[in-house]
Amino acid sequence: ALAEETKRIAAQFEYTDEDVNKGVQEFLRQMNEGLQHDGTSMSQIPTYVTGVPNGTEKGLYLAVDLGGTNFRVCSIHLNGDTTFNLTYSKIAIPKELMVAEQASDLFGFLAKQIELFLRTHHEDHFAAHVRRRQTVSTPEGYRDEQIFRLGFTFSFPVRQVGINKGTLMRWTKGFDIPDAVGKDVCALLQQEIDRLHLPVKVAALVNDTVGTLMARSYTSPGKTSTLLGAIFGTGTNGAYVEKITNIKKPVEGDYDKTTGLMVINTEWGSFDNQLNVLPNTSYDIELDQKSVNPGIQIFEKRVSGMFLGEIVRLVVVDMLKNPAISLFKDENSSHNDWKSTTTIGEGSGIFQQWGLDSSLMSIAAADSTPDQSSLRQELEKQLNIYAASLEDAQAFRTVANAVGRRAARLSAVALGAVVLQSGKLQEASDEPIDIGVDGSLVEHYPFFRDMIYEALAAVDGIGPDGAKRIRIGIAKDGSGVGAALIALVAANMEKKGV
Ligand code: BG6
Ligand code: GLC
Repeated sequence: ALAEETKRIAAQFEYTDEDVNKGVQEFLRQMNEGLQHDGTSMSQIPTYVTGVPNGTEKGLYLAVDLGGTNFRVCSIHLNGDTTFNLTYSKIAIPKELMVAEQASDLFGFLAKQIELFLRTHHEDHFAAHVRRRQTVSTPEGYRDEQIFRLGFTFSFPVRQVGINKGTLMRWTKGFDIPDAVGKDVCALLQQEIDRLHLPVKVAALVNDTVGTLMARSYTSPGKTSTLLGAIFGTGTNGAYVEKITNIKKPVEGDYDKTTGLMVINTEWGSFDNQLNVLPNTSYDIELDQKSVNPGIQIFEKRVSGMFLGEIVRLVVVDMLKNPAISLFKDENSSHNDWKSTTTIGEGSGIFQQWGLDSSLMSIAAADSTPDQSSLRQELEKQLNIYAASLEDAQAFRTVANAVGRRAARLSAVALGAVVLQSGKLQEASDEPIDIGVDGSLVEHYPFFRDMIYEALAAVDGIGPDGAKRIRIGIAKDGSGVGAALIALVAANMEKKGV
């Protein structure tokens, strides 16, 4: 009976081929709407990046990366032969800084980490800088090449007005520091860097998707230029190469027009906030209502790692509360409130918002053993669920897989629409259409890419042959390298006086 009940509940997460096709059509419509004017659900932000690299770029750059699971500082040596050497340090972002009062709390912390990184990994350069500081009194007194160019990967929606200038539109992924909204995030970081007198200039501002696109293009096999960089991690988003003639809204300021192309940051996490086509179960509704940003990032809340575990948790809680469903039940319990009749230990994440980590879904999807032993072990370890029966574990797996599969098929909607928008399938060429992806979900969730391919093959205008031409490759830690590449472009622009 448990298996039957579970199937019925999991069926709410089915997302058919027909749904995929409806999704793609609406995605295309909203993409183009976002290219026409501001204020649309998909922001379609012009990035001022007008070309993708070809692997010959060279030099030493710094990058910092904020907005995924970790904060990273890196230095990247681009070797000019499609390879690079990367040195980095990474730390988890302290939770209290994600919801701080003042922007300077967060940005001051970032600057401090940059200082630490320089002292640890570039001590020579740093010591020379300190010596110079004692002899020259103004920063202008330094020779320009003694200053590190830094690419800032800032993975939130920013209205960009130049290659190193852009104002924060809104926070996503659980961050909430109202003081920073509407401010130039490069200036906020530069202020804190200057306060510490570091030899660093914030030269470029990059979304992680743009960084991923650049990095993939730099390293991509066969030097095919990459169409799209996408993140499926804590959040989800994509940046792709668009023809400037398709961008109907005004793009202010200077940029290089010779390529006729510009990278667009779609901010597809907010695709279909108006719910024209997206699925909307009672669990999706509850998750949204209890989030810090109800009504926005509606696509992201069905797709990305930060949210999938929470959807599964809400389903499990709903099942636990239902006396007719015997999931994780303690047959010997004489209590009658729903929590005490379960075999779930007190303090379990099951009873707390965000308490179920999406990594547990990966374990469920990977465990195809007949006795579900690794899943049962993990249920105990992560959620204090002791003595889960085989049926319990199977039910959990069914729910988790249904939520994961829906996420992958929704991801295919976004990828499929961008491929169709590019018109590349119509071009007479057998070159692959290259897509670079990064993020914990696509990296660790089993079969995520396979499920995406399966759905892509069902898209009208792509089909099985088209799906075979699409090459989705991991661009691991891409955005640090990508930020360095854009810092390089910015430095060249500065030299040319653009
Ligand atoms: C990292 C990139 O590899 O992936 C980040 O360097 C990006 O820029 C991140 O934000 C996304 O993954 P997650 O799972 O950390 O959100
Ligand atoms: C969120 C952010 C977006 C970022 C994505 C992936 O959707 O708004 O800017 O690219 O997460 O990290």
